[in-house]
Amino acid sequence: MKNISQKSWFSLSIKNNNSINLDFLYFKFYKYLIGTTELNGKYIFYFDSSNIKIVKKILDSKLKEFHFEIKNLKYENWHKKYQENFQIIDINHKLKIVPDWYDIDYNHDIDYIRIVPGMAFGTGHHETTQLIIKSLLDIIKPGFKILDLGAGSGILSIAALKFGASYVKAIEYDQDCEENFIENMILNNIKSNYSLEINDVLLNKDFSYDLVVANINKNVILDLLPIIYKYKKNKFKIILSGLLLNDEKVVVKLLSKLDFKVLNTVKMGEWLCLIVE
Ligand SMILES: C[S@@+](CC[C@H](N)C(=O)[O-])C[C@H]1O[C@@H](n2cnc3c(N)ncnc32)[C@H](O)[C@@H]1O
Repeated sequence: MKNISQKSWFSLSIKNNNSINLDFLYFKFYKYLIGTTELNGKYIFYFDSSNIKIVKKILDSKLKEFHFEIKNLKYENWHKKYQENFQIIDINHKLKIVPDWYDIDYNHDIDYIRIVPGMAFGTGHHETTQLIIKSLLDIIKPGFKILDLGAGSGILSIAALKFGASYVKAIEYDQDCEENFIENMILNNIKSNYSLEINDVLLNKDFSYDLVVANINKNVILDLLPIIYKYKKNKFKIILSGLLLNDEKVVVKLLSKLDFKVLNTVKMGEWLCLIVE
């Protein structure tokens, strides 16, 4: 937690009623979010104070109909609350995602991913991350070379290496994620067999991998698919997420136009994950 301990924070809270779509809000904020929690009938989103202007701009331009309460937070309260509310994530009793401060009582039949919740997206709490990890567990074979597009915290790269990948190339365009990515690799004792490129995934032309995972969003995925189609030399599977259920039609239409076959569709809440070849 060293990244966040020296900073000041603010929270946006909104009453949890049936008309609130948490995933929709999450999607608007995820780039700037430090964490979320549900407390006393409210959804609470936490941000670094340095992001107050951009978050207010999002509220004014895109979320006018929502009534958020904004609060500045003292570090001590925030830190404690955050730790108390951070849930351990269990993926099919095969993998647990655990925050860095938690003492693990290791069970040798289970893999563990340790995550420092930092500036990057990817604590494992989001449905899209979980959907991809579950699909990864089904598909990966020892020795696979994997391309992780929109790597964020590195959580999918770490999962891939834990599940037997021989190499992972991660691409992420947000420079702020780099420190958190490397921190998480170190925390998971991963010293080699990966590289992180800070770049736009749409500039990548090398698809000589056994499996591509892309947890990004509809627009980037719609731009990415023709690029994969153009540059791919071999057959491989792609796990796509960051997609809302509403995005299914348009993405599947493009996939079929490009001759990709949808092998499986999995859903969690409002979120969609497509396994494609
Ligand atoms: C939904 S998060 C996924 C993070 C992590 N892979 C996970 O599954 O939890 C999407 C990530 O993609 C990055 N991203 C979005 N558009 C991108 C682009 N065009 N090129 C590279 N990274 C991009 C964002 O900065 C963000 O870190």
